[in-house]
Amino acid sequence: NGGGAKAAKSRNIIEKLDEAGKNCVVFYGSQTGTAEDYASRLAKEASSRFGLKAMTADLEEYDLDNLDTLAGDKVAMFVLATYGEGEPTDNAVEFYEFISNEDLSFSSGASAAEKPLSNLKFVAFGLGNNTYEHYNSMVRNVTKFLERLGAQRIGAAGEGDDGAGTMEEDFLAWKEPMWTALADAMGLEEREAVYEPVLEVTEKPELSPESDEVYLGEPNKNHLEGSQKGPYNSHNPYIAPIVESKELFSVHDRNCLHMDIDVSGSNLSYTTGDHIAIWPTNAGKEVDRFLGVLGLTEKRHTVISVKGLDATAKVPFPSPTTYDAAVRYHMEICAPVSRQFVSTLSAFSPNDEIKAEMTKIGNDKDYFHEQVANRNYNIGQLLHFLSKGEKWSKIPFSVMIEGLHKIQPRYYSISSSSLVQKNKISITAVVESIEVPNAPHIVKGVTTNYLLALKQKQHGDPHPDPHGLDYAITGPRNKYDGFHVPVHVRHSNFRLPSDPSKPIIMIGPGTGVAPFRGFVQERAQQARDGEVVGKTLLFFGCRKKSEDYIYENEWEQYKQDMGDSFEMVTAFSRDGPKKVYVQHLLRERAAEVDELLRQKAYFYVCGDAANMAREVNTALVQIIAEQRGIPEAKAEEIVKAMRTGNTYQEDVWS
Ligand code: 2AM
Repeated sequence: NGGGAKAAKSRNIIEKLDEAGKNCVVFYGSQTGTAEDYASRLAKEASSRFGLKAMTADLEEYDLDNLDTLAGDKVAMFVLATYGEGEPTDNAVEFYEFISNEDLSFSSGASAAEKPLSNLKFVAFGLGNNTYEHYNSMVRNVTKFLERLGAQRIGAAGEGDDGAGTMEEDFLAWKEPMWTALADAMGLEEREAVYEPVLEVTEKPELSPESDEVYLGEPNKNHLEGSQKGPYNSHNPYIAPIVESKELFSVHDRNCLHMDIDVSGSNLSYTTGDHIAIWPTNAGKEVDRFLGVLGLTEKRHTVISVKGLDATAKVPFPSPTTYDAAVRYHMEICAPVSRQFVSTLSAFSPNDEIKAEMTKIGNDKDYFHEQVANRNYNIGQLLHFLSKGEKWSKIPFSVMIEGLHKIQPRYYSISSSSLVQKNKISITAVVESIEVPNAPHIVKGVTTNYLLALKQKQHGDPHPDPHGLDYAITGPRNKYDGFHVPVHVRHSNFRLPSDPSKPIIMIGPGTGVAPFRGFVQERAQQARDGEVVGKTLLFFGCRKKSEDYIYENEWEQYKQDMGDSFEMVTAFSRDGPKKVYVQHLLRERAAEVDELLRQKAYFYVCGDAANMAREVNTALVQIIAEQRGIPEAKAEEIVKAMRTGNTYQEDVWS
């Protein structure tokens, strides 16, 4: 059962492996759940294709100072995401500190110099993003450290690139030669893969969905019992009331939302520049489709119990629950489908013809792109499209739970100042449109559409649900009155200088302006309080002045509060004959920008990582080079030093 007090668990991985009769451990360093998901896929494949006894392990849950005794017929796999500017994910910080230490010693007493890991076989895959400078540095460094300690790498260390959008294919391309090398090194024989369940799903028709012990979307036991209790974090979100929600603009199918979320009494605190995590609910329309293709519509409110088949299996949501609640609140059913999952599901096709098609899609990368990826199909849509209405009732529900991601919170840059609104967190989000590129209805932004639906219902809008998405608004059992959203706060390094008299330059086109609304709100307050506030220069860009120029009136107000120290430079990309972007205007202001940098201005960029943030970086390098009459290489070093010294900060997303 989820949520309750956890029994004290051993942090000794060797003990854990022996106890559970395992010989393969897949460690993961994961921030958003993708690395964790790849880890469980590797573990499944190790078992089903090669007869290994595999388990996954959260790096945070084990001390690895006895890694030197993991040897012989065992193998360790590392699936490691690189986070932010080359950092380990939160759950891998300790491991990274340990393994990177040149003077480390293991619990056996073995020191680094003795090559204590020479009996350890390992494989490694990294998840990174090439738009960041320290691309896949986690997997590269960990591999290097393990090898320095004598460990034997099997196959190449793989690198997946989220920046190029090829993560899944990079993973698939990496793992085949890795399996061959591993089978060689360990004398394993490949067999025809058979699905080996990790979880067991049992229907409990005797239990009413109304009974007190059944979870209908509550994140944990406290919530089930109707009392939320802190501390609130990623395992225990706070169900926060929405005190204000409005659309900042709405054109065609683009909407921009502003919401104020009340965290008073929750003990949640934030600092200007932090992120808020929002836990989404799937659209009713998608839940219906998903349950429909599986033939579970009639049984949607049947109570199910989900259990791990051995001690290492993790049940991703609290149980007992119902099919409906599991799908609506816990399973990422709207995400793009992976090619490997199509292969897994092919065995459970309704008939041979569909099975042949599924197998072809699973085996043929190009065909997969044509049939699935290009159409943005989610799993329900794909299965529906392939079977033309025939039910996929042979798919065990455990396959779906194991194969789909568990739903993840989405992070938003907080757009308010903690000095001004300590207990009221603002967010600013563009609702991603619903596109129909030669495919049926696509729900793009799961969370933003959910937030939009909340806003529309809250205000009794005349057309609250134009796309028929049918969100369950008030949550499980309508237990929480009014309009609420589950949240927690994630602290960031995106920070104003502690001295308000320092100048700042902010670049934030589109909703990239979100944290800067917080920054400017804060400095305006400081100005009102009589503090000396340094130059506050904001570059904002949007399509048209009359369309998506958000917070226009507020900026006016801040100007009144701050006088000349606040200045806003606006780039409207679609108002004139030529595109004008923030980086163009930055160049126009080259002399002033350089002068501010000489006065030790902090430089901030927020928004699109792939193009904008890169081009701004380039523009700044050129500005420094020109203004100071130095070579670009030298200017590049200056910008790099700014980054290391935290006077160049980014909050970017792809
Ligand atoms: P566009 O959509 O008209 O091309 C917020 O999304 C603003 O950022 C829009 O005005 C958008 O312009 C602009 N934008 C798009 N690509 C950009 C880039 N590479 N650099 C800076 N701004 C960009």
